[in-house]
Amino acid sequence: MTKIAIIGFGVVGSGVAEVFYKNRQSIEKKAGRELDIKYIVDVRSLEGTVWADKAGTYEQALADPEVGVMIETIGGLTPAYDFSKRALLAGKHVITSNKELVAAHGAELLGIAKENNVNYLFEASVGGGIPIIHPLYQCLGAGEVEEIAGILNGTTNFIMTRMFRDKMSFEQALGLAQDNGYAERNPAADVEGTDACRKICILASIAFGSHVYPDNIHTEGIAALTAEDVAAAASAGYVIKLIGRAKKTEKGLMVMVSPALISQESQLANVSDVFNGILVRSSDTGDVVFYGRGAGKLPTAAAVISDLVDAMKEGGHIDSLGWEDSGRSNVADWRDDVTRMMFRTSGLGRTEIQRIFGTVEPIQGAAQEERAFLTEPVSGRQTEEWIRLAKAAGAEVRSAIRVLEY
Ligand code: HSE
Repeated sequence: MTKIAIIGFGVVGSGVAEVFYKNRQSIEKKAGRELDIKYIVDVRSLEGTVWADKAGTYEQALADPEVGVMIETIGGLTPAYDFSKRALLAGKHVITSNKELVAAHGAELLGIAKENNVNYLFEASVGGGIPIIHPLYQCLGAGEVEEIAGILNGTTNFIMTRMFRDKMSFEQALGLAQDNGYAERNPAADVEGTDACRKICILASIAFGSHVYPDNIHTEGIAALTAEDVAAAASAGYVIKLIGRAKKTEKGLMVMVSPALISQESQLANVSDVFNGILVRSSDTGDVVFYGRGAGKLPTAAAVISDLVDAMKEGGHIDSLGWEDSGRSNVADWRDDVTRMMFRTSGLGRTEIQRIFGTVEPIQGAAQEERAFLTEPVSGRQTEEWIRLAKAAGAEVRSAIRVLEY
């Protein structure tokens, strides 16, 4: 029998225990061995709960030779990094939902796992209940991945759906996302795009084989988006989504998180509420799209359990999951990214718009003093220059949002 320690008993950790005992028989069958949870480690007391007999400390679990797997669901870097590293060095598998830790230290922890012939697995770190990590390094491993793009944050997608479709206030929508256990402890990480950034960094690291660090990545959140942006986009046949994307270019990996216009015809356009959608574009397979619940207690817990089964079935280290820590020179300058743009401006006539922005496609139905339009493909650098010129001409640039082709 292999014993498990759950380190961190919040939304995900408690979900793991719930899913484990609900499906224990079939999990053991798939894992090919008997399993049980021996320790639950949490800063809060488990006294008076059904889990009281499992309460323990991290040091107890680490020193216990019966414990073969640690499930780290604490989140954040401290003490999760130290706990994970010491567990791997002690020859225990570590399974986590902690995207912050994987995005910051994934290459190192995977290396330690390899040296100790155990696994560091993190299916739950991206896409909640959607299997995406496993397909990316196994099923799609044969072909060359060219590009990944996805709606990777359930909270912001939920907020945008509720605000712009159901006319809820931002505060109400965020509160509901928090009540449902979707949001990060500090929801600024969701709203500012940081969470989506960590996730696209993890996917890019797997797909392209070198560690992509979140603090190298241009990241924009949803705070500046307005109902007017959404209406203008809709008039032109688009929806607006927060998109994390990564692709290979001649100048390096282009990785970015920002709100973007997506055609209403796109497979990503109808991904609403807490759902995530992830498109993987590969030379041989074409576009493959993964869809499902991107956050929430049980979907995320189910992804952790799938890693538990994998670790038990494989026994030793799974060699196909890993990437190099090739420094921070692998990422291209985001200003070299070229996309069409949607602008909303006021204080500029048609002639001035043409003078500054070149050939544009006007969007009908903008407010009277306002002009909304789509540009030809343009670099981030040129976009910054256009905004500068428009402001110098006395105009207000109300929004500048990328248009993506998926
Ligand atoms: N806060 C995250 C989200 C949780 O909303 O997507 C799942 O990673």
